[in-house]
Amino acid sequence: MSTPAAAPAPAPVAPLAAADTADAPIRLSGVRVAFGDRVVLDHLDLVVPRGKNVVIMGLSGTGKSVTLKAVAGLQKVNAGEIVVAGVHVENARRAALTSVRSKLGFLFQSGALIRWMTALENVALPLVENGVPRAEADARARKRLDEVGLGDSANKRPDEMSGGMAKRVGFCRATIANPAILLYDEPTTGLDPITKRTIDDLIVHGRDKFGATGVIVSHDLRGAMRTGDLIALLYEGRIAVVLPPREFIKCDHPIVREFVRDDGGAAGGK
Ligand SMILES: Nc1ncnc2c1ncn2[C@@H]1O[C@H](COP(=O)(O)OP(=O)(O)OP(=O)(O)O)[C@@H](O)[C@H]1O
Ligand SMILES: [Mg+2]
Repeated sequence: MSTPAAAPAPAPVAPLAAADTADAPIRLSGVRVAFGDRVVLDHLDLVVPRGKNVVIMGLSGTGKSVTLKAVAGLQKVNAGEIVVAGVHVENARRAALTSVRSKLGFLFQSGALIRWMTALENVALPLVENGVPRAEADARARKRLDEVGLGDSANKRPDEMSGGMAKRVGFCRATIANPAILLYDEPTTGLDPITKRTIDDLIVHGRDKFGATGVIVSHDLRGAMRTGDLIALLYEGRIAVVLPPREFIKCDHPIVREFVRDDGGAAGGK
């Protein structure tokens, strides 16, 4: 684990109602992930209540992407439990994992688009895989691309896209089938402020209209304030802080203070 910048304050964690915890579509407890000698996650606990968005913030390399992959069953864990939609993904058999993944949309940090498919084909893929007729899948994919300002780029392939375009196509693909659970790894990194806001609004819309439960990894404090019901700080392998946005920006953790300072205090922190 990386060396701490300063000793962290005792972890402030918002008390969740018992009902929130019992019904939570995503629960991680005591999760440990190590690569050889390097322990990335250790004693990580996190509960994502139904229909809420939890934003995970933290320094680069602290394990945010590893955490999302572990939730999706794409990263083996050395210890702990991860329950997603009622399934223990840490030791699930293939059939159970397939069932979990069918409820899950994942925007990978890298985009992970299929490089021989056009933007339209990439976005339509989850629908086609779910048996939606091709014409309807294409129409819905086209509309989704329009919403993120990519109506003119439907026929571009990933190697013809800018980084921000690929990110938006990945966003469209993750959300097109309105999955119950959404994992967004840096959905707005590298986007201009206007497009950022569009994506943030679509994330909020997905929660409000379809009741999606989301985990969003972000370095953007203002976006986190807009999209998050709770903001969590990943620090030294575990969730060190989980609080509603207005309380998060006021908490004393030194890394949170750095995020607020970097934002110029515009998000409203002390
Ligand atoms: N498959 C792997 N094999 C070995 N080490 C890995 C692997 N995946 C991740 N790591 C290491 O785990 C640590 C956490 O990586 P992760 O990608 O989760 O960071 P992050 O918090 O998402 O960072 P960033 O903000 O830069 O995206 C890093 O030190 C990384 O090198
Ligand atoms: Mg990452």
